[in-house]
Amino acid sequence: MGLPSHTSTPLQLPAGRCLRGRVRVPGDKSISHRALLFGAIAEGETRIEGLLPAEDPLSTAACLRAMGVTVSEIRAGEPVTVQGVGLDGFQEAHDVLDCGNSGTTMRLMLGLLAGRVGRHFVLSGDASLRGRPMRRVGAPLTQMGAVIHGRRDGNFAPLAVLGQPLHGTTIHTPVASAQVKSAILLAALTAEGPTTVIEPAQSRDHSERMLRAFGARLQVGGPGLTEVTLTPGHALRGQSVVVPGDISSAAFWLVAAAITPGAALTVENVGLNPSRTGILEVLEQMGARIVVLNARDVAGEPVGDLQVSHGPLQAFEIGGELIPRLVDEIPVLAVAACAAEGTSRVRDAAELRVKETDRLAVMARQLGAMGARIEAFDDGLAIAGNTELHGADVDSETDHRVAMSLAVAAGIARGSTTLHGPEAAAVSYPGFWDDLERLRS
Ligand code: S3P
Repeated sequence: MGLPSHTSTPLQLPAGRCLRGRVRVPGDKSISHRALLFGAIAEGETRIEGLLPAEDPLSTAACLRAMGVTVSEIRAGEPVTVQGVGLDGFQEAHDVLDCGNSGTTMRLMLGLLAGRVGRHFVLSGDASLRGRPMRRVGAPLTQMGAVIHGRRDGNFAPLAVLGQPLHGTTIHTPVASAQVKSAILLAALTAEGPTTVIEPAQSRDHSERMLRAFGARLQVGGPGLTEVTLTPGHALRGQSVVVPGDISSAAFWLVAAAITPGAALTVENVGLNPSRTGILEVLEQMGARIVVLNARDVAGEPVGDLQVSHGPLQAFEIGGELIPRLVDEIPVLAVAACAAEGTSRVRDAAELRVKETDRLAVMARQLGAMGARIEAFDDGLAIAGNTELHGADVDSETDHRVAMSLAVAAGIARGSTTLHGPEAAAVSYPGFWDDLERLRS
């Protein structure tokens, strides 16, 4: 887990300015990883527009290059091309594959490497990633015949993968996790016979949509679309992918505008895949004014512009199957809860304890330092509303979403806030501080 970081200059966040204007959030992180990875195992060229030029997708691209895949340079605003090597084309890397801070890189890569017969790969990452559970991916892959070793019985990186012939099977996953589901589906592409993944609740379905577009054979069914079956034997073909803006990045602006008196923002080009839109449902239930404009479909994903303005908010209670649909937005929802009428509650969110940091503990600690009345439980939070936050010395504790959530909180606090570790935002939203500056002026 991440520890407080002071590797960069702390950022002063003055309070009390309004937020107005338009903002275009960077590309969706989940879709960006998948476009690079699926492009790599396809035949022919994949061209990606709108790829997120942030640290996490750069980690994925670096790992792919280390295994012989040609990925063009990733620069903001420019298309990226990937020259696919086919389903079994990865070369053994000469060194450890560095996944940085990125759980998606490590987990999806495990699925891709498990079946590369006779080849040996070692994956590692930063201190946060080396403390995140990997057996949740290793165990189902082992059921398919994979051989994966790591610290503490294979749970922690560095992880060693010795590629094996895999066989299809039916796997019930104990947590609704798109990373686990995707790793299994990627391993299934070259397994003997079909593989079915059954989740306790539906997690984001970007892999299913994009794998199908690349030519994979997939069936989705079961109650609440929780069962996915992949039948191998179909080569993937390079595609043209357009990555929509990331709703998890848009969430910071949606909450900021909803809680800041006088604020009005339009967030452009936001991905509105129903497996990700839980944040909109909760904000609407709270009474936030959100209008979807220009709803459209872009390369198999629904997209729209979101207009949001300040209004009185009510507390929320969330849990159950909604959690996977807003799992990354809970830190910023905790900020919204401070400004609402009544006590908000989050349940069934123990997964937050194994994200880039223990987000329940970190948000309770950091938002608490600003005067929030927030209590963390094993699987959730209780946050008292109508709380006037005050400026304080706070820390991202290396977590990108914590950094940006605290910036949103600072916007409604009395007095100025000093944020340590603001550079963490670059993991998913490198332009966040520039956008904040522009929208506040
Ligand atoms: C992701 C899935 C989620 C999410 C993460 C990205 C993905 O994690 O929190 O930021 O791209 O598949 P889990 O699958 O572990 O819930």
